[in-house]
Amino acid sequence: MSDIEDTSADPTADTAADSSRAAAAGSDGAPEAGPRGRPRAADRDVLIEAAGLRKVHAARGAGAPTEAVAGIDFTVRRGEAFGFLGPNGAGKSTTMRMIGCVSPVSGGRLTVLGMDAAAQGPAIRARIGSVPQDDTLDTELTVRENLLVYGRYFGLTRAVIKERTERLLDFARLADKAGEQVEALSGGMRRRLTIARSLINQPEILLLDEPTTGLDPQARHLLWERLFRLKSQGVTLLLTTHYMDEAEQLCDRLVVMDHGLIVAEGTPQELIRRHCTREVLELRFAPPERPGEQAGERGDEKGADQHGDRRARGPAEPAPEPAVASAGPAARPTGSGRATDPDVTALADLGDRVEVLPDRVLLYADDGEAALAAVHRRGIQPLTALVRRAGLEDVFLTLTGRTLVD
Ligand SMILES: Nc1ncnc2c1ncn2[C@@H]1O[C@H](COP(=O)(O)OP(=O)(O)OP(=O)(O)O)[C@@H](O)[C@H]1O
Ligand SMILES: [Mg+2]
Repeated sequence: MSDIEDTSADPTADTAADSSRAAAAGSDGAPEAGPRGRPRAADRDVLIEAAGLRKVHAARGAGAPTEAVAGIDFTVRRGEAFGFLGPNGAGKSTTMRMIGCVSPVSGGRLTVLGMDAAAQGPAIRARIGSVPQDDTLDTELTVRENLLVYGRYFGLTRAVIKERTERLLDFARLADKAGEQVEALSGGMRRRLTIARSLINQPEILLLDEPTTGLDPQARHLLWERLFRLKSQGVTLLLTTHYMDEAEQLCDRLVVMDHGLIVAEGTPQELIRRHCTREVLELRFAPPERPGEQAGERGDEKGADQHGDRRARGPAEPAPEPAVASAGPAARPTGSGRATDPDVTALADLGDRVEVLPDRVLLYADDGEAALAAVHRRGIQPLTALVRRAGLEDVFLTLTGRTLVD
């Protein structure tokens, strides 16, 4: 098993693993032939195909090896926007890096653009663009120089690189920063430059590992618009994200990963339909009463503010004064502010499922209003309650038992 990582900025650089495998396979960069000389992928629209794909990271120091990707199957078709969701450490970036041929495959099969990722890394890298999770810009160069230098790796003529560089500076809204050193850019500007850089070779597939993390809302929307534009031009997009609105906006199809495995696959709507009820009732209870604290200082109704488009209810009537004393015994919060087991017991039969989060209890029910009425009938009086439609984050909780960023 090889675990040689190629972290160089040179997108056409070979890895030792690539070289040895390519030599063994006698690769000439041509698509690998299957039986009867045809490309292996029967469907020419399948651009990426993984079967039993595995990645084991070598042990660091005294630690044990990590099986970051534990045998996954998926296909990505031409023109699709395909998303990888999953909690921290699920194996998303590792998968992206194998597709981008900067991290050798440990097991299984991975074909990209009809080529074997294990043997034809350089040929694949020449036709894809990659935005890694962490920026790898040359901070000592200017913004423009970063694009010019990167373009040279692809063997493009100076004139072509120059023309594309100016266009990409506009694309990323960095034209006015072109002469500045990268060191002087904000985090969001660096992200935009990395994305611009990934497009210099006009890739057929664009890999975006958390492309908008750290961007302000305006920059995110700008980027989404640009990604839509690329997609309409036929570029196939693969992205990881922790933003559920991003996944719902951009992705035609998603896989949810957890512990190196794919635990669900489908369109955003399919996933929500398959794994959730139609609505979710969110309940918040009063935090614990601390000695000497005034009742009026305890209320926490931020949850309703964060969901301006949702139907907020609360504080529940009668007014929670004092909140803990007025709540039914089953709804009494613990000292940590978490809803307690008795809460779940008291709520369990009111919906399909109850999820207890540190700050909220989620009750999954097709009719959230009816569930809320039932909660009140039981004498349970949360501080705030809101009914909303189920979304991808709920799919997440259901499948992984974790929030996206825990
Ligand atoms: N180069 C490496 N060497 C050793 N272990 C690694 C390496 N890269 C990742 N890992 C481990 O592999 C697992 C998956 O990591 P990965 O970066 O793929 O997760 P991720 O889904 O992208 O998470 P995040 O959402 O935090 O970016 C983790 O346990 C991580 O610690
Ligand atoms: Mg990652």
